[in-house]
Amino acid sequence: MEIVTSPVECRKKILSLTVEGKNIGFVPTMGALHDGHMELVRQAKLSCDFVVVSIFVNRTQFNNEEDFRKYPKSFDSDAEKLRQSGCDIVFAPGDSDMYPGTPEVKITFPRLQKSMEGRYRPGHFEGVALVVSKLLHVVPAQKAFFGRKDWQQVLIIKQLVRDLHFFSEIISVPTLREPDGLAMSSRNQRLSEKERSLAVIFSKSLYMAKEKLLAGDSVEETVASVRQAFDRMPQVRLEYFEIANRETLEPVQSVETNVPVSLFIAGYVGDVRLIDNIFLQEETE
Ligand code: PAJ
Repeated sequence: MEIVTSPVECRKKILSLTVEGKNIGFVPTMGALHDGHMELVRQAKLSCDFVVVSIFVNRTQFNNEEDFRKYPKSFDSDAEKLRQSGCDIVFAPGDSDMYPGTPEVKITFPRLQKSMEGRYRPGHFEGVALVVSKLLHVVPAQKAFFGRKDWQQVLIIKQLVRDLHFFSEIISVPTLREPDGLAMSSRNQRLSEKERSLAVIFSKSLYMAKEKLLAGDSVEETVASVRQAFDRMPQVRLEYFEIANRETLEPVQSVETNVPVSLFIAGYVGDVRLIDNIFLQEETE
């Protein structure tokens, strides 16, 4: 496994592998790798000849300086995990490699970013779109893998790829969870033992809401019961719970069988922000 820090070097390598006829799979990450990330790598290995993983904590997507500063970093153990997974290249640029100057380009998604993460983290998706554009230029892969844990991000990246003619196919991979249901996340490392036990309320609420909706409860009743569950736990703060069309992200007033619906949740345990979502209907993609 090679570790490359220069974008130019990395692109050269990828282009020459492509000329040799290799099928490249790309997994962009911000490091602090857990089994959820490793599942993306596993999927990439299954369908590509050559796998590139990037590790870059992208400052421009953090709307909160403290969240950026506290973002966990563990390059050596990340590299070890990647070596064992059969990853071929780790692209690990420094800040100035990715941002040689202050960027002026701004990519916005007025429709897709108006709710949820886009609403509560102003500027977040602009930062994501900018860095993913750069990364897809450095690693022009046939397939790029993203987790459904960040479903709004998946939709935004699919839109980016369509609008700007990137040629990578975007593959979305189901969320990996801890045995109690908590979605795996690099931020889970920042939870104390007590906070970790409380954090399960996010996935529990999603599953409880799904059950209620499928049993015929209304959207209104379901939203109210999730809010009540959070009201009973003052150590945990709900930021949003939304029941929305999975493709357009428009909130739904009722659940129709012919509309693909997902449930989305975000909030805080202590000062750690967690997000999660599930499909209401069977996962078909
Ligand atoms: P990061 O949070 O490191 O996540 C990297 C990828 O892993 C994302 O596609 C994310 O959705 C996926 N992922 C995270 N937790 C997962 C889980 N439990 N199961 C499955 N996949 C999971 O997302 C980012 O980085 C950044 O925004 C990035 C796209 C790298 C741009 O900076």
